[in-house]
Amino acid sequence: MEILKVENLCKIYGAGETKVSALDNVSFSVEKGEFVSIVGQSGSGKSTLLHIVGGVDKPTSGKIYVDQKEVLQKNQEELAIYRRRQVGLIYQFYNLIPVLNVEENIVLPLKLDGQKINQDRLDKLVDTLGLTNRRKHLPKQLSGGQQQRVSIGRAIINAPALVLSAQGVF
Ligand SMILES: Nc1ncnc2c1ncn2[C@@H]1O[C@H](COP(=O)(O)OP(=O)(O)O)[C@@H](O)[C@H]1O
Ligand SMILES: [Mg+2]
Repeated sequence: MEILKVENLCKIYGAGETKVSALDNVSFSVEKGEFVSIVGQSGSGKSTLLHIVGGVDKPTSGKIYVDQKEVLQKNQEELAIYRRRQVGLIYQFYNLIPVLNVEENIVLPLKLDGQKINQDRLDKLVDTLGLTNRRKHLPKQLSGGQQQRVSIGRAIINAPALVLSAQGVF
């Protein structure tokens, strides 16, 4: 089953002398369960593509379908709902909230979306991530790898359709 379809995506930044065509008719599709890497030289549009698919930025033209439904990128509110419910974003530098412990960081997307926490699901996820004995620790009390696992947990706690992860230098 096709979980993501990107159709003729274009992104133009700026105008006149500073005009940049960052994405020029990008089309691809991803099957459910498929793992896809976008590789390219610096400045080739990888981050732009990730931001648009993740609902953080809007394309100049083109369409995105998640789970056969078109992602409407009309306004900020729609984009925010799409980001909260359909996308799990894993940032390069984890972006954990320093004053929240492991458990609180992981459930943050559910809280922001006003959803109830399924304790059983949370326990299983924390266990899978190998963080059971670090549940109450703050990010600064964790190793780099543990922090990264918290960030993965936060990205998948609400079972998003897409998990997007930016790796590499920029
Ligand atoms: N906010 C912006 N305004 C204008 N141009 C931008 C902006 N962001 C990126 N670009 C341009 O778009 C191109 C693609 O950038 P980006 O998607 O960040 O590339 P990558 O992640 O592959 O290194 C670059 O050549 C860059 O100059
Ligand atoms: Mg980049």
